[in-house]
Amino acid sequence: MSSKVDGIRSVSFGVADPHKTAKFFSEIWGLGVAGQSGDDIYLRGTGSYSHIVSLHQRPATEMIELSLSSPDRAGVDESHRAVTGAGCEATQPGSVDQVGGGYGFTFVDPDGRRVRIVAEDVRHRDTAEQLDKPVRIGHVVLISPDFKAIGKFYCDVLGFEVRNQTPRNVFIRCNSDHHNIAFFGGDGSTLDHVAFLMPEVNSVVRGVTRMNANGYHMGWGVSQHGDGEDVYAYFCGPDGLCIEYTTKVDPGWGGNKGEIEHWDVAEIATDQLNANRKKIPFRASA
Ligand SMILES: [Fe+2]
Repeated sequence: MSSKVDGIRSVSFGVADPHKTAKFFSEIWGLGVAGQSGDDIYLRGTGSYSHIVSLHQRPATEMIELSLSSPDRAGVDESHRAVTGAGCEATQPGSVDQVGGGYGFTFVDPDGRRVRIVAEDVRHRDTAEQLDKPVRIGHVVLISPDFKAIGKFYCDVLGFEVRNQTPRNVFIRCNSDHHNIAFFGGDGSTLDHVAFLMPEVNSVVRGVTRMNANGYHMGWGVSQHGDGEDVYAYFCGPDGLCIEYTTKVDPGWGGNKGEIEHWDVAEIATDQLNANRKKIPFRASA
């Protein structure tokens, strides 16, 4: 497995009113406030990462950054050499001026996403799981104009491995999870959804109840992904963001780099979700 990166730490969103969106994430979705500086708000799960979502004021909803953790400073430096060697625009590694701090840099991937790689950031010690709260990000699904090429980039340059590939998507990982990122083919470089890992099935069900009680209706679920044995529920949240509660995906799902059966059910079942969600673009220049 990769020595350059070892997980998805966080996602950064630009939204019209970060305080309003943070209120949703903290009071309904189940995250905690990790820090705040003006209109920049950082939210944590119950896991050790300093934060798993950050919100920043922007005129329209956008994904500003995907943040990957690296095991150590050497991993950051190695990642920097790899992405610059592959021709990507990147900042110099150094101190990270964000909640959580650490040592890292950002680069722009071939699809135009800004990605941060960080090590030595502050980690929480109070990491006991709580029934109603997400632990961390389980996975992100990103739309790419060339999912095969971008999957290959993350494998060749950052050390991810392909877990499964179908004619329309590729699932890759940098740790023992089934996948950390999935790239789906589509127009442009946008966010499909972010999945938040819940401790158990009952956590997902309770999350659904909480969301419904607050006027957010489930777009897809509660169900399981084919043979994955993960229990999930998708919602169109505030700002058109598609967010998911999920239990852990069985690392053995889909066999060894084989195709995942039953995936086409998604096209039928997600009509309601797709009617309400927005295309969330990446803004690498932000
Ligand atoms: Fe998902």
